[in-house]
Amino acid sequence: MSQSPENVQDPLKPWKYLLFTPLKVADAFTIFMKGLFLVCAVASISLVSYSFFSTTTKYYIRCSVCEDQTVVHSLENYQEIYHHNENTNISHILFGIGGSAKTWENRRYYNEIWWKPNITRGFVWLDEKPAENVKWPETSPPYKVSEDTSRFKYKCSYGTRSALRIARIIKQNFELGLENVRWFVMGDDDTVFFTENLLNVLSKYDHNEMYYIGGNSESVEQDVIHSYTMGYGGGGFAISYPLAAVLVRVLDGCINRYASFYGSDQKIGGCMTEIGVPITKELGFHQIDIRGNPYGLLAAHPLAPLVSLHHLDYVQPIFPGMNRIDSVKNLVEAYRSDPSRALQQSICYDLNRNWSISVSWGYTIQLYPYLVTAKDLATPLRTFLTWRSWSQDPFTFNTRIVSLDPCKRPVIYFFDRVTKLEDGGTMTSYMRPPYPGKQCEKDNYSPALSIQMLNVSAAKLDPDVWKKAPRRQCCEVINDEEMDGVVQMRIRACNQWESVTPPQTKVA
Ligand SMILES: *[C@@H]1O[C@H](CO)[C@@H](O)[C@H](O)[C@H]1NC(C)=O
Ligand SMILES: *[C@@H]1O[C@H](CO)[C@@H](O)[C@H](O)[C@H]1NC(C)=O
Ligand SMILES: *[C@@H]1O[C@H](CO)[C@@H](O)[C@H](O)[C@H]1NC(C)=O
Ligand SMILES: *[C@@H]1O[C@H](CO)[C@@H](O)[C@H](O)[C@H]1NC(C)=O
Repeated sequence: MSQSPENVQDPLKPWKYLLFTPLKVADAFTIFMKGLFLVCAVASISLVSYSFFSTTTKYYIRCSVCEDQTVVHSLENYQEIYHHNENTNISHILFGIGGSAKTWENRRYYNEIWWKPNITRGFVWLDEKPAENVKWPETSPPYKVSEDTSRFKYKCSYGTRSALRIARIIKQNFELGLENVRWFVMGDDDTVFFTENLLNVLSKYDHNEMYYIGGNSESVEQDVIHSYTMGYGGGGFAISYPLAAVLVRVLDGCINRYASFYGSDQKIGGCMTEIGVPITKELGFHQIDIRGNPYGLLAAHPLAPLVSLHHLDYVQPIFPGMNRIDSVKNLVEAYRSDPSRALQQSICYDLNRNWSISVSWGYTIQLYPYLVTAKDLATPLRTFLTWRSWSQDPFTFNTRIVSLDPCKRPVIYFFDRVTKLEDGGTMTSYMRPPYPGKQCEKDNYSPALSIQMLNVSAAKLDPDVWKKAPRRQCCEVINDEEMDGVVQMRIRACNQWESVTPPQTKVA
């Protein structure tokens, strides 16, 4: 195949010289001309391939799409990416949030928890312009108004046409042609993103390849009705630039072909199947398709960084005695002090007291005054019901029942505050909230019930641990003797031979 000299870049690694003729770095004018030449080159040759130094990735773009502006546009942007192959940072993500003018005033509070004006990039896409008398808050993401979608078909009896508009946000965001975008991330107006972790997760993947990254619904009934093979929009999903470039070409057609699909995310999932790119599932995206209290899920989070939480208006506040927004802010306070560690579980025994302790860092501690297996402790307590039918199960993960017997329940503590230590680590404190129910009156419970607070020290968790083979961290109780109702604990990496294995005779 022919190569127009203008679309070949200086390879950054010597072995690439074998593949392409290196050219000297272009000045601003030739960069402009390059764009122009590209249009011609793409139009005249049947196949253009791009290679990137980081991997052996190649892009082949068929000429049948040459007249499509978005593709030319995307090629220019590939070159941009090629020039700037530094680490992915927050500026490389373009967020697209599905909102509406009427609900923004209520929903904006969830967004303003994670949105950093002038740092995070993106838009809330609204159904109409906000009313004249509404001053758009500076702390909110900037808004744009979606294009009219009345020409598209929508045939799902139990859904709403807004799905069409929201499905097209990725296309409208793409067509803005903003520079240096590596990932398009979609979310709802009630999605809370944990952006450092999102970035960390995305940086595991080469943005020059075609990736579709997200998570499923927790409720099996939802996955059965909608799909297992899509990223759920509320938990949020990420699409790499090259994949977005292909998606936006076929999206409008998909929207009509999948007119019977309920949601915008499902329509995008349909499109992805046409393109042939499967969802890469990451366990930190949380759609929260559950009812009741998400406690059990958050107290036994999978071993993956926390990326998002959704549907927080539909579940009980995650901290007792706090409203929903303040609850999220409380979690975010812990999160900010050590993003990679947020909600990470550690399990240990205090064999002097026959206690089992499960820490969900920055959120909660469960203290059992008897020995419980690690397998049970790592299984979420079922404090919630399914989304659609409000049933006991099934979920896409195992759960264990919450006993009605107070003597088979843990004593529960909640994150109260975090102190930064001089070495960069943290000390998090967990307090026992006032408990209205009946407490266990057995003897073994009274020492546990006298504990008012647990203090947990931990080094800051290096975000790079998430690029290695995962292993839960270990914990230990530092003070065997009670000190004014406070238990001191430490979380640390496990030793090579360490495991949470109780002495045989002691397991309950
Ligand atoms: C992000 O990376 C770009 C290079 O692609 C660089 O110009 C920019 O300064 C970086 N931004 C931050 C916030 O680190
Ligand atoms: C964001 O940047 C604009 C333009 O530089 C500035 O006017 C505005 O005050 C900034 N907003 C915040 C919240 O920093
Ligand atoms: C536990 O932490 C709290 C603050 O978070 C502190 O006031 C208290 O002294 C600590 N207790 C012990 C025993 O270290
Ligand atoms: C711990 O459990 C073992 C076995 O059940 C028992 O023999 C021992 O007395 C218990 N120790 C304490 C401090 O309760």
